[in-house]
Amino acid sequence: MKCGTSRGKVRAAIAIVGLIAGIFAGIAYGAGNRPADDEFLPENPEEGSALFTSKLCIRCHSVQGVGGRTGPDLGEVQLGSLSEITAKLWNHFPRMNEAFTIERLVWPTFTNTQTRKLVTFLYYLNFLDKAANAEVGEKLFHEKNCVRCHSVGGRGGTVGPELDSFQERYAIPYITAALWNSGPKMMETMLSEKVQRPAFRERDVVDILAYIRARGFGEEARRRYLAVGNPISGKEIFRKKGCSYCHSVRGNGGKIGPDLARQPLKGSLSYILSELWNHGSNMWPRMKRERIKFPTFKPQEMADLISYLYFLKFRDVVGTASHGADVFARKNCKLCHTPKRPGDETIGPNLAEVGLKSSFDVLAAMWNHAPRIEDRMKEEGIRWPLFEKEEMADLVEYILSLNKER
Ligand code: HEC
Ligand code: HEC
Ligand code: HEC
Ligand code: HEC
Repeated sequence: MKCGTSRGKVRAAIAIVGLIAGIFAGIAYGAGNRPADDEFLPENPEEGSALFTSKLCIRCHSVQGVGGRTGPDLGEVQLGSLSEITAKLWNHFPRMNEAFTIERLVWPTFTNTQTRKLVTFLYYLNFLDKAANAEVGEKLFHEKNCVRCHSVGGRGGTVGPELDSFQERYAIPYITAALWNSGPKMMETMLSEKVQRPAFRERDVVDILAYIRARGFGEEARRRYLAVGNPISGKEIFRKKGCSYCHSVRGNGGKIGPDLARQPLKGSLSYILSELWNHGSNMWPRMKRERIKFPTFKPQEMADLISYLYFLKFRDVVGTASHGADVFARKNCKLCHTPKRPGDETIGPNLAEVGLKSSFDVLAAMWNHAPRIEDRMKEEGIRWPLFEKEEMADLVEYILSLNKER
């Protein structure tokens, strides 16, 4: 993927973090008490990209322009959260099955882990910003008065440092961390220079960055990249840097600022970056009042933090098993999966006995059996049911609740 990644570094980073997180997950999972949220935080959101190719999705779908054209470009459409992606995949099975039959391809099956990785990757696709525009960036650089204090390519003010270095400090988190770290000082300077502090809309910073990349002094050979943000490390950084002193995540943590899982944070990398900047003017003075040391970030820490904030929305709706029971009946699943009387034969397996333990297991099971389920539905004259994300969230909770061993 794009997004300024150096493979070697990624691998090294994953190996280390993976080891730690793997040990942690291994112990906690076994005990059945892994913190609920961690199940939905990947170490490396890009890991599933290989499956996108090996499981043939790429034959029909592009990601940012690369790949087939039969289906939509999955980097362009808003795929939504886990339950929404699950619903869309389910809704999509018959069409996909038909295409696989026509092209004489074998229906790809997934292990539970692969499903987790692929869905995580699909969710991550909306994190990446669409191609940035250097001309728009140049306009913004003037409109937002950056040019009064900063120079790029030898043109502009000298109150603040030259911004050419972001030509080589290539990955977006470099400038994100710098904007944060210099934020309070910049605010003061703006006040003394009587310049209004600008707010950023979603794509402003990536466009400004595109302008710096196009016009700034710098050598391509010296560009520096960062590893893909690791949400699990980001969670730790969130705690260590004192964010949780003021912010909760689904009710856990401080109450001074908003709960960041409830806020509409998903956006994209540049959206989250803008939010951090825009709210800084209230947040930073508040930190001073609370006597919290202003936290600064290394670029990789910022990459991890932002990735964590993005993944807070991976599970946006949490389903309710009792509602799911209704959905199960309403969508005709019950017809084939629940015996009319105890001991009766059913057309499909008893889902209480399949041993499904997580949302990803349920999706994998549905996926792997989809062609056969569809055949049986056709035989029984049942139309393939379609799901909204809330229905899917409820359904999955219900199926999981059937498993008494969980
Ligand atoms: C043979 C062609 C084909 C293959 C292979 C294929 N898809 Fe699709 N996909 C489509 C088409 C066509 C659509 C448009 C929706 C529809 O008609 O179901 C679609 C829709 C989707 C959607 C919903 C998009 C939306 O905005 O609602 C998702 C998600 C998706 N595909 C994921 C995948 C994944 C993941 C794979 C690989 C495991 C895959 N597809 C393989 C053809 C394909
Ligand atoms: C009133 C002057 C002023 C304006 C306007 C201003 N800045 Fe700054 N900026 C500064 C100063 C001063 C610093 C250095 C602060 C410090 O020492 O930490 C700085 C630091 C930065 C840094 C960190 C540089 C580094 O190498 O770490 C970035 C990035 C930056 N500004 C971007 C911008 C952008 C983008 C805009 C326009 C949206 C802007 N600034 C507007 C004064 C300004
Ligand atoms: C001293 C308390 C405090 C600390 C510490 C703090 N924040 Fe905030 N934060 C706030 C307050 C208050 C707001 C709301 C400000 C506003 O409405 O402009 C806020 C707003 C935000 C928002 C915007 C939320 C939204 O969608 O409206 C984000 C994102 C955010 N903070 C992230 C962070 C991160 C990341 C950290 C740690 C690096 C952090 N905050 C540390 C108090 C704090
Ligand atoms: C017409 C009958 C029929 C209907 C309706 C039906 N299924 Fe099934 N289902 C089956 C059959 C048959 C299998 C076993 C397929 C196989 O052997 O590959 C199955 C398998 C499954 C599995 C995989 C179980 C395993 O062994 O891992 C899941 C999960 C599942 N169905 C969920 C559902 C859901 C959810 C619905 C409602 C939206 C539904 N099914 C509706 C017949 C049906």
